[in-house]
Amino acid sequence: MSGFLHEVRANGLVTRIAAIAAIGGFLFGYDTGVISGALLFIKKDLQAGPVVQEFIVSALLVGAIVGAVASGWSADRFGRRNTKIVSGCVYVVGALGCAFAVNSEMLIGFRLLLGFSVGTASFVSPMYISEVSPPRIRGGLTSFNQLAITTGILTAYLVDYFFRDLPGNWRWMVGVAALPGAALAIGMLTVPKTPRWLVEHGRDDQARRVLEQLREGADGDAKQELEDIRHGVTESRGAGLRDLTRRQIRPLLLIGCALAVFQQFVGTNTVVYYAPTILEDTGLKADAAIGQTLAVGLTNLVFTVVAVLLLDRVGRRPLLLTGTAVLTCALVALAVYFASDTVAQAVPWLALVALVVYMAGFAVGLGPVFWLMISEIFPQSLRSLGMSVSTVANWTANFAISVSFLSLVGAITRPGTFLLYAILAVTALLFFAARVPETKQRSLEEIQRELQPR
Ligand code: BGC
Repeated sequence: MSGFLHEVRANGLVTRIAAIAAIGGFLFGYDTGVISGALLFIKKDLQAGPVVQEFIVSALLVGAIVGAVASGWSADRFGRRNTKIVSGCVYVVGALGCAFAVNSEMLIGFRLLLGFSVGTASFVSPMYISEVSPPRIRGGLTSFNQLAITTGILTAYLVDYFFRDLPGNWRWMVGVAALPGAALAIGMLTVPKTPRWLVEHGRDDQARRVLEQLREGADGDAKQELEDIRHGVTESRGAGLRDLTRRQIRPLLLIGCALAVFQQFVGTNTVVYYAPTILEDTGLKADAAIGQTLAVGLTNLVFTVVAVLLLDRVGRRPLLLTGTAVLTCALVALAVYFASDTVAQAVPWLALVALVVYMAGFAVGLGPVFWLMISEIFPQSLRSLGMSVSTVANWTANFAISVSFLSLVGAITRPGTFLLYAILAVTALLFFAARVPETKQRSLEEIQRELQPR
């Protein structure tokens, strides 16, 4: 653990740059968390019925899918840094538009725009960080993004809680997010373009200068790294969308998409979006349920810190496998709790404990590892495309799980739903054990060489 902290101190500049880029993750998390509380007031204020409410919630997810598609192209064409600057600006417009919405249609329109920005930021942030980080601490630094997502979710819960009695409450809740949006756009103006993007665009001299600056005097490292990057770029130059289905790339795409879909199909956002509802069903009053939801959000944050500290030391695989096994057990416990009145009466605290354990398992494994892995496994010239496709898969699965949760509970009951998630989690575990590689402490180019058999 201290190894990571020591390296972070020695790489102060890269760490600062990673923290700025991770603001993209904060925007992602804030929007994920804010709507559950804001909706309680929006529905009264804008007289939104259940269907309109669903549109308000899911507009963000639909926008994110479109954003993830568009930014794969944009990150290659205009660069990771510029794409993030635009994403921050779009976010400011989206947040202010939502805050001043005069009717549901306007709110839905601006939530779509917000989603567009969030979808972009969701993968260009980890991509940017992984491309500027030294291999020794790439896992931890790239997971600053997931740390920012969880901080965003928790901040949103707190903002919802504290703004609830303010006049114009929901407008403040959604509007204050313009501030971090502006911080992202302005912050990204102060950081360099990634060396890999520069080499890809024939700007090797600039790439060398950036690398020297980033490696802070470790010239040998910078020279060797530049050589590796050049090599990686030459090897994969000219690759396009069709190459994603090439024999060597297909297994990587399968890993990216499987991590993406399983990250959602184990029910994460059911917990993030519906934790108060789940807890209220255990007989808690609304206020207590919201308080306990904060505990779930805090657990997510704390265990993501643990992941950041451990990813480069113990590796991605052990954390992914252990975390998924832990969350599977928690899902089974939730199923048992809701299936049996006797259990629910004997151990009334089981639901909360299971939710907390679930979140801890997710936060040390699938949460950060998905975003990290997709930034590591694809070759240079297919990185944007590969990440973009995996991210679209993630947002689509997020959408599917979010809109189906309540109907699923109606159709197969609550224990049935948690059991289904548990079965999917076991499937995920088997897949991860068989197919997900270890990528710690290796350069992105080394990973490519190893993952693509000739
Ligand atoms: C997932 C989100 C989720 C969040 C929870 C992210 O990695 O992609 O869908 O809401 O983690 O912490």
